[in-house]
Amino acid sequence: MKHRHSALACGLIALSALVHATQAAPVSPVTVKTFGRTAEGRKVEIYTLINKKGMKVRVMTRGATVVDLYTPDRNGKLADIVLGFSSLDSYGPTVPYFGAVVGRYANRIANGKFMLEGKTYQLAKNNGPNALHGGLKGFDKQIWKSEVLKTAEPSVRFALRSPDGQEGYPGTLDVAVTYTLTDQNELRLSYLATTDKPTVLNVTNHSYFNLAGAGNGTILDQQLKLNAGQFTPVNATLIPTGEIKSVAGTVMDFRKSTPIGMRIKQVGGKPIGYDHNYVLARCPFVHMTTAAVAHDPKSGRTMTVFTDQPGIQFYSGNFLDGTITGRGGKVYNQYSGFCLETQHFPDSPNEPTFPSTELKPGRTYKTTTVYKFSAN
Ligand code: GLA
Repeated sequence: MKHRHSALACGLIALSALVHATQAAPVSPVTVKTFGRTAEGRKVEIYTLINKKGMKVRVMTRGATVVDLYTPDRNGKLADIVLGFSSLDSYGPTVPYFGAVVGRYANRIANGKFMLEGKTYQLAKNNGPNALHGGLKGFDKQIWKSEVLKTAEPSVRFALRSPDGQEGYPGTLDVAVTYTLTDQNELRLSYLATTDKPTVLNVTNHSYFNLAGAGNGTILDQQLKLNAGQFTPVNATLIPTGEIKSVAGTVMDFRKSTPIGMRIKQVGGKPIGYDHNYVLARCPFVHMTTAAVAHDPKSGRTMTVFTDQPGIQFYSGNFLDGTITGRGGKVYNQYSGFCLETQHFPDSPNEPTFPSTELKPGRTYKTTTVYKFSAN
């Protein structure tokens, strides 16, 4: 597929105020402790990464999951801005992918079925008629191997071997994700994967952000700007129709920073809200594009997302319904967090016009996404 670009897209999205209000804190090494044990008795570890500015993230080996993420507001006050739990036991099978790395195929594959090299593969239908986020026991529910990297900035690498046929996907897949917390208040996720047979692959992180602090109301007043002039419309089961549509003149248009809740009722869907893949505008020769800028006017927190991926799923937490109580006893109601999942387009294995998600033996899947935090 041709890269899509425009004069608008190629202008840099202004990174408003790169001023960090926090005081320089002493560098802390990466620390690790036991977070809990799974029902089968397997130990799950949790790593704490702290940068020179005092920003902190904790990631556990189950699902290579971001458990909490503390970033400063405009007064330098840290708050945890991702939905999550303080104990492993709360991360049950029905929790909707809080903070996890999802795969082998993030988002949906229609009817859980696709063809590759003349063979048909059937996956579990774990979301109505479709396959969602890698199946019944996707990457989010597996225990990853982990290792602290000897780098100047705190960095931990998580790795997983997904056997041939796991969740119905062909090929033994070796996948790794490295989390680095830079001293510029960026959380960098670098993914690598190889396979021994042709397979399909689409990996992302499924953190739910609330820039006012997890559990502090909804994200409806928070503003979003997306570097995308097009999106992929979906059918009633959230499978792309195959069309690539312009956002111009629609409630999908986030080319200018707009409160998430401003037009949400008009988006429709069941439940109502945004749950769409945006086609990121790309500039020739620019590898990492500014995909999204989210801002909370109250706390001043801004999150900028950079990626080399062709799409981003903007999900406004529509399925959250108040039945989950998170950290600190806070109830997660509808719209209490948003996800910005950098990705290939949903159902690409069944859509020949979408960028290919096939990974062949001898090739390396390599992709990077950066979440950068500032406050003004
Ligand atoms: C994704 C999907 C949503 C929903 C959530 C999990 O981001 O796009 O439709 O399935 O995961 O609840």
